[in-house]
Amino acid sequence: MKRAPVDFRGQWVLVTGASSGLGREMAKQLVQEHGANVIAVARRRDRLEALRDELANGTTLVHPLVADLATPADVTRLVSEATQLGEIRGAILNAGVTYYGHALEQDLEAFDKLLATNVTALVHLCQHFARYFQSKKNDGGVLLVSSMAGFAPLPYQAAYAATKAFVTSYGRSLAYELKGKGVNVSVFAPGGIATEMLELSGLNRKFKAGDVGIMSAEECARLALDGFQKRRMLTVPGASNKLMAAGMKLAPNGVLLPAIAKIYEGALPEEPKG
Ligand SMILES: NC(=O)c1ccc[n+]([C@@H]2O[C@H](COP(=O)([O-])OP(=O)(O)OC[C@H]3O[C@@H](n4cnc5c(N)ncnc54)[C@H](OP(=O)(O)O)[C@@H]3O)[C@@H](O)[C@H]2O)c1
Repeated sequence: MKRAPVDFRGQWVLVTGASSGLGREMAKQLVQEHGANVIAVARRRDRLEALRDELANGTTLVHPLVADLATPADVTRLVSEATQLGEIRGAILNAGVTYYGHALEQDLEAFDKLLATNVTALVHLCQHFARYFQSKKNDGGVLLVSSMAGFAPLPYQAAYAATKAFVTSYGRSLAYELKGKGVNVSVFAPGGIATEMLELSGLNRKFKAGDVGIMSAEECARLALDGFQKRRMLTVPGASNKLMAAGMKLAPNGVLLPAIAKIYEGALPEEPKG
């Protein structure tokens, strides 16, 4: 029998990376459209507090929780603070960072932080919340935000794409292992989204809001929450992304890699002349 979509009304949902972009938009929609209470996690306190104030409606709650996911002690503190607030029904592990540029020029300290944020913290939080939902028997779920970058090697975002390949593979494996065992695990793999990530990485030299293939955070958040509510193992949002994902699966590497490299080369800064 088909199960009804998860109803988040009156439930606590934790969202990492809620200070910006996709995470902020999911937090907003969870409160305004789903009637959920949100634990909003990120490093920038001012942004989280502004979100709480913006979403204040006298009915639902937004709890800012400041944590640096690249710091293991913060991840441990986050879990204990979050679970003291009330019973949590959903954990959206969305926070992520990229590095765009030549792989050999990536600062290794920044690489360690990227790995800790995109992979290590995600696995720790995923394990914790999956066990928590099982113990609460509350049909809770974890949503892992990955990327289409995880479907193929991605020149100029080499480390980022590798972390997203990890997230997709890990999430889908876990979803299978936990099927029928009281926890829903869903993976969301979007293509380009118009968020701060494009500006911070320099990808905005080529990719901008409104371009074909760049989705708004609002539309993307709606599709992410829809996949999560319907307990889909993997959601790729939008028809053009789905088509591209299918092409990425079928195309031989000899064709795919140069094509992807060509798209992304276009945003590299110009080499100084002379
Ligand atoms: N934008 C795209 O084109 C795109 C495409 C596919 C997938 N995605 C994925 O979507 C997710 C959201 O990205 P976005 O596009 O919304 O980017 P964004 O606007 O840059 O937001 C990233 C969020 O992650 C948080 N974050 C980063 N490092 C953190 C850390 N060490 N500890 C705690 N929070 C941290 C940031 O908050 P603070 O800085 O306040 O900590 C921010 O809230 C990411 O997983 C990304 O990989 C993005």
